[in-house]
Amino acid sequence: MKKDLLTLRDVSPEDCKLLFDRSLELKKRHASGMPDRTLEGKTLGLVFDKPSTRTRVSFEAAMAHLGGTPLFLNTQDTQLIRNEPIADTARVLSRYLDGLAVRTYSQNLLEELAAGASIPIINGLTDLYHPCQVLSDLMTILEQKGQLEDLKIVWVGDGNNVAHSWLNAAAILPLNLIVATPKGYEPDEAILKAALRDAEGRIEMVSDPVEAVRGADVIYTDVWASMGQESDHDRRKQFFEPYQVNKNLVAKAKEDVIVMHCLPAHRGEEISGDVLEGPHSVVWDQSENKMHMHKAILEKYMAGR
Ligand code: CP
Ligand code: NVA
Repeated sequence: MKKDLLTLRDVSPEDCKLLFDRSLELKKRHASGMPDRTLEGKTLGLVFDKPSTRTRVSFEAAMAHLGGTPLFLNTQDTQLIRNEPIADTARVLSRYLDGLAVRTYSQNLLEELAAGASIPIINGLTDLYHPCQVLSDLMTILEQKGQLEDLKIVWVGDGNNVAHSWLNAAAILPLNLIVATPKGYEPDEAILKAALRDAEGRIEMVSDPVEAVRGADVIYTDVWASMGQESDHDRRKQFFEPYQVNKNLVAKAKEDVIVMHCLPAHRGEEISGDVLEGPHSVVWDQSENKMHMHKAILEKYMAGR
């Protein structure tokens, strides 16, 4: 039976551990020039409906390094824009490919695609979730801090798709997650409720960013207006200004706090330029790690490793 990765709720804690171990191992092997050809003969389709730099290129590079072939499909160039049913598209693509990474707006569309496909479907970001991002972020925290437990991880900013995946992570792993958002920009109620119900560790919602980051081990932020919300950008700015991750905010956290951002970043908005480029920032390693984690994910879902 094929397995999909549509949300982090699809991943067991045991599988998370395997993915962390394997991605860290693959990173070391890559650095020392050791070849891995675990996806020889396999083809991954990438059906993308929204822009992407990191997710697209890291999945494509991951396939190439592992001996497989990536095939990028801009949705605009497919018959999907001429209303070919999603289920038909899923059936046909399943005849050609061994897996699909999908970036789109609607989580329902992704689920429909997964229901019609006989190959694994991997969520490369929807309006609701960004599960592969948070898997590689957890890998980065493990790499930097050597542990996931007993760390104060603070989300500062919009209660968006990446925040939702963080909540899902806290539902399956023993994390200490604090989410600081402006009023009116909290995470989706149903996702939050389910995460609070199932939390393996501790989840706390606050609105004061300064209170939130006191003693933090990890500060994480993301854009104030996600893809698809561009027209709301200027309105949002006034509510989000106190949530900028800048030197003053970082000073309230632990001395060895790491600052994370999934990128792309807007210097002077959600994060100041000096913090992004400063000694606490791990954003460049974080973005590299997407490729190593994507390799581990592809091996698991496409080659059953
Ligand atoms: N972090 C991330 O998903 O970046 P892209 O939008 O460039 O893929
Ligand atoms: N929340 C952002 C993440 C980009 C990787 C967005 O959806 O645009």
